[in-house]
Amino acid sequence: MAAVYDAFARDYQRSKGSPLRAAIESWTIDRLLGDIRGCAIFDAGCGDGFHARRLMARGAGRIAGVDVSAAMIRLAREEESRTPLGIGYQCCAVEDLPELPCAGYGAGGFDFVLAAYLLHYAPSVEVLARMCQRLANVLKPGGRLVALVENPDQTVADYAGYALYGFDKVAVEPRAEASRIRYSLVAGRQMIRFDTWYYSRDSYERTLRDAGFSAIAWHRLEVDPAADDANDYADYLRNPPVLGLTAELPGMQRS
Ligand SMILES: C[S@@+](CC[C@H](N)C(=O)[O-])C[C@H]1O[C@@H](n2cnc3c(N)ncnc32)[C@H](O)[C@@H]1O
Repeated sequence: MAAVYDAFARDYQRSKGSPLRAAIESWTIDRLLGDIRGCAIFDAGCGDGFHARRLMARGAGRIAGVDVSAAMIRLAREEESRTPLGIGYQCCAVEDLPELPCAGYGAGGFDFVLAAYLLHYAPSVEVLARMCQRLANVLKPGGRLVALVENPDQTVADYAGYALYGFDKVAVEPRAEASRIRYSLVAGRQMIRFDTWYYSRDSYERTLRDAGFSAIAWHRLEVDPAADDANDYADYLRNPPVLGLTAELPGMQRS
């Protein structure tokens, strides 16, 4: 998989400063994760480590981040050497993680996998299935996946009205499984464009079930009620570009 984020890693990093990210993205992720104190978290598609650092500050016990983009991992490591938090970062495509439980990514497995804006980068159902399988492998029995994915309930006509929020979303192929969606946003000093892929609820749920997950649930985005600008996001929340998706591995068998 080509690491498209290599071309605009620094500018993407700057875009994480947007108020929408704190008020909605971080808030929703934190609500879906719940109490993470002392927990081991695998940040899949970690980018520059924005959420990994936040979650460490919220009391996580151990975090490892993986991203396909070498430039993103470089930024994450730069932050780690500026302010050491003990987070380890590796450059690897999630679908290419070792097939067996990943000893190299932390003995004993992880309590949580965070996959914020990752699964919809799979360019085919086969790659999506491999991603889900590899993510299941890094979790402990009873471990939980928390993801933000393309909103499968949107029609192509719903991809409108985001200019106010600083980006544009269009379908560049007729709607089908694994059809391409293009985002354009001004980030830092340049206009950045990247593609994601559409999957139906059924594809996400089937690939997760095939990877051994159950308790699959969809969640709408939420806004932090304490955010100064909480009322500015009503349209965004009515037509959210992404949804939360959670799933769990079965717990430890009792003997
Ligand atoms: C929209 S960014 C989100 C980064 C981070 N999760 C966050 O929320 O700040 C998507 C990230 O997924 C990474 N990515 C895309 N496909 C990937 C893959 N197959 N394996 C690992 N990382 C991937 C990109 O390089 C990019 O850093």
